[in-house]
Amino acid sequence: MNWPAEAIWEAVAPLLPGFTVEVLPEIDSSNSELMRRARAGQQDPVLLVAESQTAGRGRLGRQWQSAAGDSLTFSLGLPLAPADWSGLSLAVGVSVAEGLHPDLHLKWPNDVWLGDRKLGGILIETASFGEAGAARYAVIGIGLNVAARAGTGLSTPPAALRELWPDADAGTVLAKVAPRLVRDVLAFQEAGFAAFRERFAARDLLRGRSVSLSDGTAGTAQGVDGAGSLLVHTAAGLQAISSSEVSVRPVAP
Ligand code: BTN
Repeated sequence: MNWPAEAIWEAVAPLLPGFTVEVLPEIDSSNSELMRRARAGQQDPVLLVAESQTAGRGRLGRQWQSAAGDSLTFSLGLPLAPADWSGLSLAVGVSVAEGLHPDLHLKWPNDVWLGDRKLGGILIETASFGEAGAARYAVIGIGLNVAARAGTGLSTPPAALRELWPDADAGTVLAKVAPRLVRDVLAFQEAGFAAFRERFAARDLLRGRSVSLSDGTAGTAQGVDGAGSLLVHTAAGLQAISSSEVSVRPVAP
């Protein structure tokens, strides 16, 4: 695989002093690796690409399956000190979708969907940074299906970027996504979710749809509020869902 590491470094280093790009042939999980390093005191900005992951992780303790060459799996680690963290994961989803294709949608909080199938996922974790203060070390992990893969155990079969670009490869996709992601995350640090709310709304897969939540609630999704919480109109009234422990499913029309 030809990774565009130098081009990405040239685009990003002026924005993030000390930034490096690293490609590993195999690792358990790019997120786990950057979290281990952060806890051991390595907290410089880095883009870590894993050609394959043996224990890829998704949200809510799920696994993330991927195959070398058929997927793009990477994590961006950087110190971050936004005044308010709420909505970061949605902002990252907006950045990824906008970098890739106008037809991609976001399923709250940050899954990337093509039509009614999931194409990619985002897992954000943070570690404490320095002595005290507002900054934390953020690890933003992104997995995108480049080629079709079997959806063993998944409720919907996954989508892949080759459905949009038959000749897509992981390196080209990374070059489209990574520099923009850094710019958007730094913009989030300055201005928070406000700059992303309308952009999320433009790609909101759930808006107006019947949804069921993993806590048993059912209702109609009504967009997100200024903190990135999902608004759901339920029998008990309008609820703002912010818990990352709740998963949401669109109900088939
Ligand atoms: C989800 O949809 O639940 C989130 C999936 C996130 C997967 C990416 S792949 C790169 C990084 N390393 C991991 O172990 N997970 C994230």
